[in-house]
Amino acid sequence: MVVAAGGIGTGRGLAAVLAAGAQAGLVGTRLLAATEAAGKPSAKRKVIEADAEDTVLTRVFDIGAGLAWPSRYPGRALRNDFADRWHGHEEALSVDQAEARTTLAQAARDGDYSQAVIYASSAAEFVRAEQPVAEILDQLAADAEHHLAAVRDLLA
Ligand SMILES: Cc1cc2nc3c(=O)[nH]c(=O)nc-3n(C[C@H](O)[C@H](O)[C@H](O)COP(=O)(O)O)c2cc1C
Repeated sequence: MVVAAGGIGTGRGLAAVLAAGAQAGLVGTRLLAATEAAGKPSAKRKVIEADAEDTVLTRVFDIGAGLAWPSRYPGRALRNDFADRWHGHEEALSVDQAEARTTLAQAARDGDYSQAVIYASSAAEFVRAEQPVAEILDQLAADAEHHLAAVRDLLA
């Protein structure tokens, strides 16, 4: 079974991966501001306001938190002051790691997302309101069906 993942946030995107041969699409970021999602309201607001270019593929949040992920596994997150300060300066961040760890932990507790991480992909651009999960998935499925039917009609 092939499951396509990454950047799917619309029915058009879901239809595209199904048409390309996937049996399913996995959706992550599109659900970050769902009513049922556990994030703080201020974090959901950041995702709702973000566009695709407001994200960065970076290791700085893992380095800052002291998480020993291999360097080949960065994560895509919303850009913020912490990422702007340290992305590209990973060596220096490693030296200041103890201070960064305290900053990130405190910021996460306070809901200060100028420092704390919010992992999110380019699909953040499709998140425009807080909505129940069922509503998001019903809309995705209905839109995907619509786009797949349009392709079928091309062949009829
Ligand atoms: C809050 C959040 C945490 C994530 N944590 C991880 C992680 O620990 N490891 C990982 O490989 N991917 C992680 N991801 C990336 C997911 O694998 C990714 O969201 C998934 O492939 C779906 O892509 P999408 O978010 O563009 O829909 C995370 C994504 C989000 C939104």
